[in-house]
Amino acid sequence: MEATTTEPRAVSVVILKGGVGKSTTSMNLARQLAERGTTLFADLDPNGHATNGLGFEAAYQDEVDLGDVILEGDATPHDLIRSTEHGFDLLPSSDTLEDVEKELAGAMQGSARIKSKIVDPLLGDEYEYVVFDCPAYPGMLNNNALVATGNVMIPIEPGSSAIGGYKRTMERLIEPAREYIDVDVLAVVPNKLGDRIDHRTEDRELLENLNTATYEVNPGQQLQEAVPDFARITGEEFDAIDAGEMAPPKPGIRHRSALSRSLQHSQPLQDYDPENDQIACYEELAEIVAAGGVER
Ligand SMILES: Nc1ncnc2c1ncn2[C@@H]1O[C@H](COP(=O)(O)OP(=O)(O)OP(=O)(O)O)[C@@H](O)[C@H]1O
Ligand SMILES: [Mg+2]
Repeated sequence: MEATTTEPRAVSVVILKGGVGKSTTSMNLARQLAERGTTLFADLDPNGHATNGLGFEAAYQDEVDLGDVILEGDATPHDLIRSTEHGFDLLPSSDTLEDVEKELAGAMQGSARIKSKIVDPLLGDEYEYVVFDCPAYPGMLNNNALVATGNVMIPIEPGSSAIGGYKRTMERLIEPAREYIDVDVLAVVPNKLGDRIDHRTEDRELLENLNTATYEVNPGQQLQEAVPDFARITGEEFDAIDAGEMAPPKPGIRHRSALSRSLQHSQPLQDYDPENDQIACYEELAEIVAAGGVER
């Protein structure tokens, strides 16, 4: 196989903590993946923030829901999927998704339904990429996303609870799943960076932690190897910054009001503010998905 060949790939954006940036990251990742190939963005969070944010309030309240495709009934994924003006298609969330999750708990092969009914038939056929936005709590929807994709990206934000959210996600979601399936952490993605990093700030603490912590994020792979280049600052670089020999870089993904405003205007960042300096970060995440991990 040629080195340039990229395989179709599905990825779940997960962290067991609310408000960190799962929806923002997954939607903007889908937007940049759509530049590379056909992309489906699947909103698996019952809160429907991404679906409603993109302006699909009617789809969120549609009578046909995910349960009609993956539990009983003869609906197909195409009965749910909507095309958007942003290059990707949307598998919308619905106001009934919590009930669907409860029914999945009692269903035969309840964790594999989205894989068998949606991702296996569509990935590599109609879509080159599938991106899941996931709920902030453990359960059947997150389990389905893990089984269906086998790949995750974990957003993480500065602050004392951030590494805690990452650890909880590894301990309560990814490691239990790994008893049964392979789960590849493609990237751990800092989000909402804003403070200076030439001082003892929470941003600096996060970036230093990510680059020095001795956690295995994947079997045989340390956490720092899963940090994208746009957020990677080595110990030597921090020393040079502290010695005044190097100008502090501006790692991403940074806090940008355009990112929060873009959803109020039903748009991914690329369409809302095409000049925004953080778009390059989402392009790099798309590259990581295409390549199957961070390459250095
Ligand atoms: N880099 C950023 N810059 C500015 N605002 C951001 C950034 N990332 C996320 N936000 C904002 O932070 C809030 C939470 O982000 P988001 O909805 O993506 O998180 P989430 O993990 O999906 O949350 P939930 O668990 O509630 O679904 C939103 O208002 C979003 O617009
Ligand atoms: Mg969300």
